[in-house]
Amino acid sequence: DKKISIAIDGPAAAGKSTVAKIVAEQLSYIYIDTGAMYRALTYKALKMGADLDREDTLIGILLNSEIKLLPSDSGQLVLLDGEDVTKEIRYSKVTNSVSIVAMHRQVRAEMVRRQQELASFGGVVMDGRDIGTHVLPKAEVKVFLLASVEERAIRRHTENVQKGIDSDLETLKNEIARRDKLDSEREVAPLVKAEDAVEIDTTSLSINDVVERIMALVEERV
Ligand code: C5P
Repeated sequence: DKKISIAIDGPAAAGKSTVAKIVAEQLSYIYIDTGAMYRALTYKALKMGADLDREDTLIGILLNSEIKLLPSDSGQLVLLDGEDVTKEIRYSKVTNSVSIVAMHRQVRAEMVRRQQELASFGGVVMDGRDIGTHVLPKAEVKVFLLASVEERAIRRHTENVQKGIDSDLETLKNEIARRDKLDSEREVAPLVKAEDAVEIDTTSLSINDVVERIMALVEERV
């Protein structure tokens, strides 16, 4: 079989990484979580006390940073300059700042360059916001995952409770809606469905249902 590229885009907490990981595993493909790269940069910038509105500062930090995504049993390890930041990049301070960092044109250009390099051998499942539109415009399979804000907040809340993380449903709803708005309305590579992407509304679907639909699309292309 030929090794194809699979692009999975969609709004915050739509279940992209969950299904992308499973699809990658079933195909023995590499999984690349591009959101983790933006999160790692945001984490570092916050730690340095950088002004997140300054494009020159942010691109400077990024050009001096090594962000590595390594496969692991639990999904993916994120190494920032050799340090494991897998857990830290999910902190709410990072989650609530990342869309500001991701607005900068030069930051996006450098991230896209790195992501295209990671995908250059094919056999990848990549998830994010602009994969089908900008990073891998020629991906053989493009999926756009959707779910209502309500449903996404409930899923994230349940996940937090299971992990023993403090969680408030109303707060989550507001944060998800705010991030969607910033990501969809930004000037550079906003969150939008690629013309040739297949839209899947996951609101009333199980993880398995979504995986099966994507695998069916893959089978048509390989
Ligand atoms: O996917 P995740 O929710 O971890 O992404 C975090 C943030 O990174 C998004 O809200 C968005 O601002 C940014 N992002 C992006 N382009 C991508 C992936 C993520 O702008 N390809």
